[in-house]
This record gives sequence, structure tokens and C-alpha cells, in this order.
Amino acid sequence: MNHIILIGFMGAGKTTIGRGLARELHIPFVDTDQQIVREQNRTIADIFEKDGEACFRQMEHEQLKKCLKKRTSVLSVGGGLPVQKMNHDLLKELGTTIYLKASKETLASRLSGDRSRPLLQGGTLEEKIESLMKEREEIYEQVADRIVETNGLEIKDVISKIRTLVV
Ligand code: S3P
Repeated sequence: MNHIILIGFMGAGKTTIGRGLARELHIPFVDTDQQIVREQNRTIADIFEKDGEACFRQMEHEQLKKCLKKRTSVLSVGGGLPVQKMNHDLLKELGTTIYLKASKETLASRLSGDRSRPLLQGGTLEEKIESLMKEREEIYEQVADRIVETNGLEIKDVISKIRTLVV
């Protein structure tokens, strides 16, 4: 199975870049968040609020498992998915994992005003990013087969960089 899996923090551009990359490679694009929202017919914020984060993490895990049976795709996964140990072997089995790395400043400017991501609500955005990144950055780097620095790059340049890594 050789999917291209994009991981990284919220606001790293996984969905936009993933969609563009899939278009260029003429393969399907799958986004675990979008799949969950579609199947549940409710927002991620609603799932977090009514059922809790653990339930959402299980839904993500189920989506990832489903990808094992799908044809090769570009797969964009939520920022918290690679942090869950239960997903590590699955990610390896699915294909090549690419970490889209962006600075905290870049992420903060992209995520400013966001109301859709439950983990960023309340408190200051910079502090939320700082503390989550502290927990996650090392894990992203360990889980990734490749790391792509995205700071200051346009979407098309990030896509080109990824293409040089996966062909
Ligand atoms: C989350 C990231 C979100 C979404 C949920 C939790 C996280 O996806 O899965 O809000 O824990 O980082 P994006 O990374 O696509 O924003």
C-alpha cells in the first residue's frame, strides 16, 4: 500500500496541499476530518463537545483503518492523529508519511480567528500553539518518513518539493 500521508500541526496546509498534490498525481484525495464530518453529519466541535476528544480519536483511527482498503491516495490527517500511538503501525503500513513543518508564527497567522478547532479555543492562540507543539513536534518528526519545511513557500512549491520525494 503506498499512500502519501500528510501530517502536521493545524494550519500547516495539509488539506490544501494534499488536494493539489492529488490533482497533479491523478489519484484520489482523502481527508480524515472531512470523512468524519460527512459520516457523522456534524462538526468536529460538536463531536468534541458532546462525545469528547477520546471518541473523536477513535473515529480518526477507524478512518485510517478504512484507508488500508482504499486505492492509493493522498491522505491528509488531523493534527492530533499521528500523536496517538494506536495509529503508528497503521501509518507505516499505509505508505509514506510527510511532515509539513511550519513555524509557530506562520501557524499563528494562519489560525488567527479560527473558531472550528476545539483545541484552539479559550486562552491565547500563541500559548495554545506553543504548548501543543511542545507535546507534538518530536512525535511528528519521529513518525515522518520525510520532513518538508513550508515556511515562506507557496503551495505550488511545497507540492513540487513533495513530488521530488515520492517519485
Ligand atoms: C486537531 C486537528 C484538526 C481536527 C481536530 C483536532 C488536532 O485537524 O482533527 O480539530 O488535535 O490537532 P487539522 O489538523 O486538519 O486542523
